Amino acid sequence: MTTVTAAEAAYVVAALLFILSLAGLSQHRTSRSGVVWGIAGMVIALAATVGLASRSITATGLVLIAVATAVGAGIGLWRARVVEMTGMPELIAIMHSLVGLAATFVGWNGYLDVDPGLSGSLLGIHHAEVFIGVFIGAVTFTGSVVAYLKLSARIKSNPLTLPGKHILNVGALVAFVALTVAFVARPNIGLLIAVTVVALALGAHLVASIGGGDMPVVVSMLNSYSGWAAAASGFLLANNLLIVTGALVGSSGAYLSYIMCKAMNRSFISVIAGGFGTPAAAADDGEQGEHREINAEETAELLRDATSVIITPGYGMAVAQAQYPVAELARKLRERGVEVRFGIHPVAGRLPGHMNVLLAEANVPYDVVLEMDEINDDFAATSVVLVIGANDTVNPAATDNPASPIAGMPVLHVWEAANVVVFKRSMAAGYAGVQNPLFFRENTQMLFGDAKQRVEDILRGLDALDAPVPEMAGTSR
Ligand code: TAP
Repeated sequence: MTTVTAAEAAYVVAALLFILSLAGLSQHRTSRSGVVWGIAGMVIALAATVGLASRSITATGLVLIAVATAVGAGIGLWRARVVEMTGMPELIAIMHSLVGLAATFVGWNGYLDVDPGLSGSLLGIHHAEVFIGVFIGAVTFTGSVVAYLKLSARIKSNPLTLPGKHILNVGALVAFVALTVAFVARPNIGLLIAVTVVALALGAHLVASIGGGDMPVVVSMLNSYSGWAAAASGFLLANNLLIVTGALVGSSGAYLSYIMCKAMNRSFISVIAGGFGTPAAAADDGEQGEHREINAEETAELLRDATSVIITPGYGMAVAQAQYPVAELARKLRERGVEVRFGIHPVAGRLPGHMNVLLAEANVPYDVVLEMDEINDDFAATSVVLVIGANDTVNPAATDNPASPIAGMPVLHVWEAANVVVFKRSMAAGYAGVQNPLFFRENTQMLFGDAKQRVEDILRGLDALDAPVPEMAGTSR
């Protein structure tokens, strides 16, 4: 078997492993095996690619590949080991930026190093591929860098609203089409520089125009763009695996974005077009009345007297790493005969499935963890809701204030319960920068402090309520 045939066979195996990996990752129970399939596919793909390259490059080239692989793998391992769960979206965003940058370089290389065997319409197709690869790559690069800066709070998450912003976006797309036609007719470096600059500016502007609340969709859209950028590079490099893998990433990212848009009641087209058609609402982080406070002992008493409890976790539970005491609290209450369930918003936290992963980590049984649609009608018959570090996902302004930046986004109807206890450290707004009228409702009480410490205080409070108190013997509550 020639090296080329062996490499092509290995590519087919790797592509199948990537498909198995995606299938595994679609469910919590099989996600670990999904990761293993993905790793196996990538090892085979890398080995086959290096094998193919070894036919035509010098020993120095092979050493350079080995050094680059070692440096890349070292950085990847280090980042993956130290990243907090809450920092995953920005890590993913910055990784997408590298895919975009690589696709841009591959595109440029395709212009500088044209296969002398190409002529006529094949050469025209090659130049179109160069342009498309550079365009998608450069949009992905700057879009991902801006997403990284927003997600890591290095720049404000408010949408940028330049005058005529949609005309700027459409103008950039028209310029891309015109430049492509000109480049295919008469390839020259000036046009390639022009399309690179237009695409870099468009990527930055598209993502800068999107508000914080829509960032989950943006991250998965950039995931999709990075896949298409890789597929474009695959065409240029005549590498079938890169085409298949890029298409898998591109289509699964686009589908995930669509699902998230549906869950958040956002228009898919509006989000990918940089907030097209959405009114530029001002973020409102001012206080809206008086709030009431409660302490951990009083919360323990409230829970002791409850018949049903729903816990709605959010980003703050992840920051505080409160999932373990929260799981313990749920277990204790269930032992006392209280019905305890969890209500999970599709974009709670900072990445899809964030809360489910944390609760699974803390061994919360799957059957008490319900999706928003499964539990939203049950709040009205619930004694106590514990909002643990959630904010935007429980904001009633989304349903009753059409001027709110998060208007129309489905939220957990926690305010319908008899009592709501909100765990957070201050009156600060959530990720979308919008104040939450829930905090000022009559049935809401604020339990300030780090969520983990407060839940541990409640656990101690419940134990204290259970312990016999000699001097109080004979008195009943
Ligand atoms: P957020 O609206 O982000 O609010 C989290 C709250 O947790 C904050 O108000 C914060 O208040 C509190 N908090 C932080 N650290 C805490 C700690 N140690 N102890 C107690 N409380 C703490 O949370 P959410 O309801 O989960 O909503 C998620 C938001 O992120 C949405 O806007 C969503 O669109 C966006 N987003 C989601 C994703 C995905 S895919 N899930 C990705 C990117 C962005 P204090 O500072 O006062 O404590």
